[in-house]
Amino acid sequence: MTTMRLGVCGYPIKHSLSPAIHQAALDTLGIDARYERWEIRPEQLQTWVAGLRAPDILGSNITVPHKEAVIPFLDELTPLARAIGAVNTIVHREGRLIGDNTDAAGFVRSLREEGGFEPQGRRLVLLGAGGAARAIAAALAWEGAASIAVHNRGLERAERLAAHLGSPVRAFPLTTEALAATLPSAECVVNTTSAGLREGETPLPAGVALPPGALVVDIIYNPPRTRFLREAEAAGARTLGGLGMLVYQAAASFTIWTGREAPVAVMYEAARRALAARSA
Ligand code: ATR
Repeated sequence: MTTMRLGVCGYPIKHSLSPAIHQAALDTLGIDARYERWEIRPEQLQTWVAGLRAPDILGSNITVPHKEAVIPFLDELTPLARAIGAVNTIVHREGRLIGDNTDAAGFVRSLREEGGFEPQGRRLVLLGAGGAARAIAAALAWEGAASIAVHNRGLERAERLAAHLGSPVRAFPLTTEALAATLPSAECVVNTTSAGLREGETPLPAGVALPPGALVVDIIYNPPRTRFLREAEAAGARTLGGLGMLVYQAAASFTIWTGREAPVAVMYEAARRALAARSA
């Protein structure tokens, strides 16, 4: 029997937790497959994608900076990947490559199961309008959120996102004045920006308070408690970090590739262990 192959493609890729998460799941279920780390430069992407049609490849995860660039090289997109305009999962089926996006489902599952938050009919504020914000806003719109206010430093990018997804998404600048209009009635506030990856950074302008009754989410998982989350806690809000979204998007991809229910607890533990090893 051939050992099947999977992997994650990005540039750079050495910090990805996906190999640890997926290999733990494959091994636990006794699936004869190896999950690899594929560092692919933008100029290599097209040739590399063609190689995924090899018979021993089950599929691939796609991460920064290739989530959008990979689309023209695929045979098909799922409706959700098309709506988001980005692919994080490629499935190989008999020579055809199908692009999907599990970031959206991963976020919503974490919100529901860990945050106890049902998005339908709710008012949300998103900070940021990049790739991650697109997946999250599309997921929330799909789930029937009543309003999604997208605040971005560069207003144009937020406006493009709102125009692409339509109602209930609206665009705002990331300013104290604009946030004063949307934050007080928000039931959930999500940081999708990269501000917070470095200790001490926050996307919020100085002096802006988070609503104490809201669930406040940061999709950053390292550090596990960003300044944004610490300030939310200090304001009395409930908080949720990004590790759950990472694990649940992996679980959704795993099921698409293998047809098996993902061992989420094992994947969570592998992610925690890989993170701890990295910061040790
Ligand atoms: P990703 O795919 O991870 O979302 P991205 O597409 O590069 O990454 O988007 C990064 C997001 O973080 C953008 O919304 C960016 O705002 P701009 O579009 O105005 O650049 C936001 N961002 C990055 N650093 C920020 C900071 N210091 N303060 C506020 N927003 C920031």
